[in-house]
Amino acid sequence: MKSAKPYTILVSSLLLLSSLCVHAHKTPLITVIGTGYVGLVSGACLAEIGNSVICADIDSSKINSLKNGIMPIYELGLTEIVMHNVTQGRLTFTDDVASAITAADIIFIAVGTPMADDGKADLSYIDDVIETIAENINSYKIIVTKSTVPVGTGKKIRARLENVFHINPQLFSMASNPEFLREGLAVSDFLEPDRLVIGTDSDTALVTLCEIYEPLIAAGIKYVLTDIQTAEMIKYASNGFLSVKISYINEIANLCDATQADVRTVAYTMGLDHRISPYFLNPGPGFGGSCFPKDSQALVYIAQQEGLPFSTLQGALDANRVQQKKAVEKLSRLVNDYNNETLLGKTIAVLGLSFKANTDDVRYSPSISTINELLAQGAFVKVYDPIAMPNMQRIFPSITYCQTLYEAAQDADGIIIMTDWDEIKQMNLAHIKQLMNQPLLVDARNIINPEILKQLGFTCDNIGQSYLCKKQTEYVHKLVPIHLHRRMPFIKFCTK
Ligand code: UGA
Repeated sequence: MKSAKPYTILVSSLLLLSSLCVHAHKTPLITVIGTGYVGLVSGACLAEIGNSVICADIDSSKINSLKNGIMPIYELGLTEIVMHNVTQGRLTFTDDVASAITAADIIFIAVGTPMADDGKADLSYIDDVIETIAENINSYKIIVTKSTVPVGTGKKIRARLENVFHINPQLFSMASNPEFLREGLAVSDFLEPDRLVIGTDSDTALVTLCEIYEPLIAAGIKYVLTDIQTAEMIKYASNGFLSVKISYINEIANLCDATQADVRTVAYTMGLDHRISPYFLNPGPGFGGSCFPKDSQALVYIAQQEGLPFSTLQGALDANRVQQKKAVEKLSRLVNDYNNETLLGKTIAVLGLSFKANTDDVRYSPSISTINELLAQGAFVKVYDPIAMPNMQRIFPSITYCQTLYEAAQDADGIIIMTDWDEIKQMNLAHIKQLMNQPLLVDARNIINPEILKQLGFTCDNIGQSYLCKKQTEYVHKLVPIHLHRRMPFIKFCTK
């Protein structure tokens, strides 16, 4: 907390100042525009920490569902937190965005910023919201971007409001308050964040935003108060860095496979170094989701616009494209080694479709590349996912969707595990083997013990621990500390 001290002093004095100014007489009313995963989680959690919040969206059917307690996304703990705050009278939903703007003291913009064809962020939804704000602004508002936006967007919004819509600059302040919410853990990430970032050039906005986050600040959450463009950059830089870290460990995993090294031991031991940290060092089928691919691409685009190379991040994106084809490449090799055939005409089961476990989100999921690659090589594709199948059906309407993972394994010539769902980790492998036409399995998440697979008669492969899938594991670890032994129960250890 040492580095937070100057900020703490600043906040205390500003909070004192706030008691004398505009917001002292009432709790500020927050309107969150956009009820996607960022907007809905943020709105519900802002209410949970004591604020009055209106969640507004132009999508009437979504708002009607929310009013009936039906969530548009699968997110752990979200239904409970929404229902609780609705009951407490702190959270309401409306499709009347104009009235929600008129009523608000603070407007959080949480609409999507998808990737445009050239890699830059598409800000058309943000532009629409700004136009609606301009049409309805009736009193002083603090306009906060929660959506991930390119560096400089806050400034551009201000310029647009002033110069295009001729809004009096005294009538609004701008701020950036990026989110760091992981899908599946978004509620806890909001309520117990590693850090809170508020970027603004307005004292009033700073004071008011610190006020609405007061319970988190009082709980000792680290916070950074900065300018708007730095806050915008923090978000992109964080996602970009994690993308690089994942691509790095994926490429190390591929090298491990080529050299018979063990990626899990490598990653674990790298992570013991505090400068590296143990997180985001799990190799897999490549990163996906609505954030890393999009934000990394957008940051490369920003760098290009500035005439600066961003070769590390571009490299991470290139490596990710290659990694997303790894699982099929490995299965194709297994099929070839098994009976000298190709994937043409083979039935392949893909287990897990979402870009990671505990979400139904398939955006930029590595499973999409895997299915495309299988289809391109002439395979028949059967898939199973506990909750993401309806979303994948929109992308691949013609492949076979199965009700259970056993149905997917029935008569399959090979299986690829794409998502680390508990259900897949716990499947009955002996039964799966009986159901299959030929027992070939690629575990792109390293969630199944290869020793067990081999004992059951599978021919298998994984990412970065291929040597364990070989018929005979000649490699043994010596001098292994006991805690490492526990983490890698399926590796044979010798003490002498
Ligand atoms: C990510 C960030 O983690 C959040 O901090 C950020 O707020 C969010 O994007 C966003 O910008 O809104 P999320 O996309 O939900 O969150 O997913 P992550 O848990 O970060 O995983 C991203 C991808 O990396 C997944 O495909 C996952 O399987 C992969 N991954 C992650 C690995 O392959 N290995 C790892 O060790 C970690």
